[in-house]
Amino acid sequence: MESRIVLVTGGSRGIGRAIGLRFAQERAKLFINYFQDREGAEKTAQEAASKGAEVFLFQADLKDAEQIRAMFKEVQRLFGRLDVLVHNAASGVFRSTLDLTAKHWDWVMGTNARSLLLCAREAAASMPDGGRIISLSSLGSNRVIPQYGAIGVSKAALESLTRYLAAELAPRGITVNTVSAGAVATEIWRLIPDGEEILQKVRERTPSGRLLTPEDVAETVYFLASPQAQMIQGQVIVVDGGYSLLA
Ligand SMILES: NC(=O)c1ccc[n+]([C@@H]2O[C@H](COP(=O)([O-])OP(=O)(O)OC[C@H]3O[C@@H](n4cnc5c(N)ncnc54)[C@H](OP(=O)(O)O)[C@@H]3O)[C@@H](O)[C@H]2O)c1
Repeated sequence: MESRIVLVTGGSRGIGRAIGLRFAQERAKLFINYFQDREGAEKTAQEAASKGAEVFLFQADLKDAEQIRAMFKEVQRLFGRLDVLVHNAASGVFRSTLDLTAKHWDWVMGTNARSLLLCAREAAASMPDGGRIISLSSLGSNRVIPQYGAIGVSKAALESLTRYLAAELAPRGITVNTVSAGAVATEIWRLIPDGEEILQKVRERTPSGRLLTPEDVAETVYFLASPQAQMIQGQVIVVDGGYSLLA
């Protein structure tokens, strides 16, 4: 079987890294996008290559439409198509909603939500039947988490966009879905005030008895990218060990 061409945004660390490595196991041709962490991206690339993937690194700020265009142009130049887009990159401002400025709003919406639209447009232009667009969201899209307003709203936009894109791309055999994860102990938690304490509380409250790992999330993304998931369209799949079930 010909290997798939896969692009993972924000693959330098955390969940994006685990997703890249999961696709590396199927010897994918893997594009890893990163923003500032070149060293992290190179580590991901090395590990993915050791699993048999052919890996390409691409630095791009997803807030910038030109840089997104250049990234997809490179995929097009090398392979003429893209099979799977995983829109994982995200950034955040942790503040009360009333303390958010226009600059915060534009930064977070630009990185997390607008970029899905721009990446999906570029991806869809070269995606064959069976193509996949998968993004990452969080429970804050429809619940109130303190200091999380900017990210929560951006994820709500991303989830809604997922449904619109899904309806428009379904006739071409392309599926568009979102994986909404519970807390995963990645570096982002070091930036969150009281991050460690919150993670401990989530751990204690999760019915499955542990925190999610990046690999738990990566497996769900991988499943959505499989032919078996062809009829899952426009959905937000919650992967949280049962955390959100409790009142
Ligand atoms: N961790 C959690 O608890 C959790 C829970 C639910 C959902 N999620 C979602 O899962 C995804 C990954 O989360 P994570 O915890 O692994 O995040 P993370 O460790 O903070 O990594 C974020 C990634 O996004 C990249 N990025 C940030 N701004 C960018 C930009 N302007 N252009 C391109 N790339 C950019 C970063 O690149 P550089 O490092 O190169 O700058 C990095 O690779 C996010 O969408 C997040 O919202 C996370």
